Amino acid sequence: MFVNGYSCFACGAMQPAHFAGFQCPSCGGNLDIRYDYAAAEAAISGGFAKDAQDLFRYQALLPLQASRSAFPLRVGSTPLYPAPRLGQSVGLTRLYLKDDSGNPSASFKDRASAVVLRRAVETGANIVSAASTGNAGSSLACLAAAIGLRSVIFVPQSAPPAKLTQALSFGGRVLAVRGSYDEAFDLCLAASMEFGWLNRSTGLNPFTREGKKTCAFEIWEDLGKRVPDRVVVPTGDGNMLSGFWKGWQDLKAVGLIDQLPKIDCAQSASSAAISQTVKRLRATSASIPDWSEVRVDDCEADTIADSISVSRPRDGLAAVRAIIESGGEAVTISDTEILDALSEMARLSGVFAEPAAAAPWAAVKQLAREELIRPDESVVCIVSGSGLKDVAHAREVAATLQVVDPSLDAVEKALRL
Ligand SMILES: Cc1ncc(COP(=O)(O)O)c(C=O)c1O
Ligand SMILES: [Zn+2]
Repeated sequence: MFVNGYSCFACGAMQPAHFAGFQCPSCGGNLDIRYDYAAAEAAISGGFAKDAQDLFRYQALLPLQASRSAFPLRVGSTPLYPAPRLGQSVGLTRLYLKDDSGNPSASFKDRASAVVLRRAVETGANIVSAASTGNAGSSLACLAAAIGLRSVIFVPQSAPPAKLTQALSFGGRVLAVRGSYDEAFDLCLAASMEFGWLNRSTGLNPFTREGKKTCAFEIWEDLGKRVPDRVVVPTGDGNMLSGFWKGWQDLKAVGLIDQLPKIDCAQSASSAAISQTVKRLRATSASIPDWSEVRVDDCEADTIADSISVSRPRDGLAAVRAIIESGGEAVTISDTEILDALSEMARLSGVFAEPAAAAPWAAVKQLAREELIRPDESVVCIVSGSGLKDVAHAREVAATLQVVDPSLDAVEKALRL
């Protein structure tokens, strides 16, 4: 393991590798795990490990001890699909969908859960908690079940039934909080401190970002060791987005790439705290701000894309930094555009996304309309969760079901042959 410490996203203070806290002791900011990149580079001189099929083959750039036992479920190694028909609908020739719905619990969140759970095993924790809009909880319950640990999950009562059912089926102790995700987050934090659980909550726990960054490594490999021009990320707390930026920066730090992609965020206009902050900062100054001075805005989140419905982003500063430092766009789209994107993606690519996971395609359409993307740019949309997680919203934009009598005549009439 090549971790040499933790640095604060806000004030830059460093903590040593043995530091056990989650937040900066000086200012309370989120922490970034730092590596001895020269040592990591030497370790991967012949390429990443090829013996494993999952994200643990990026061991040299993970904050984990080498493990002799394989993780029981396969997390990562998800497909990157070219989506020519979808791309051509807005004049793009190199559009790709990174379909993370094929992970064990059908969302991107498994990348973070897998790394946190391996960390739990290393540190001897046997109960892992998380606040979740739904996916992080179902993911934690799933992977905890696979390795025999216990999970306690705090979700807002409004979480979609499929995600709750998943978490309950996996044997997670699920507490549906009468309140918002933000309230569930605070309750999970207080309970984890009181009862000594390892808290996996997004943003707070620096290990989640490390799991999420592996998606960038895969995209680079999937593209034949090339860097795309843009990666478009559905954004709520901002931890996925900061994970992508970390992944590309890591690849550069170990000398595998020499340029970086733009990281664009896709947010619902009804839950847009991170985009709002980026726009405010760009309107007031053209230069990179002093991050210790920046406060991320709050908002009143109220979007049908439940996974990205966040009023107080828990990894907001790291995400704002990633968008600004990478030169990405902060895109907001309406809930109607998100649902239309869901339906269009399904029909023109065969990939079925939950609303949050369709937000990147809605964002790309807007960028193309506003001519902020060149037609020949290579663009990767992150499909972070399966459409089966929220069929109720998908159904609103799907074609009407036709009920017919069991006769050829009825078929002919129904299909107007
Ligand atoms: C499917 C899906 N997409 C996107 C996100 C957003 O990730 P983040 O909250 O780290 O911005 C989530 C988070 O729950 C999610 O479940
Ligand atoms: Zn700090």
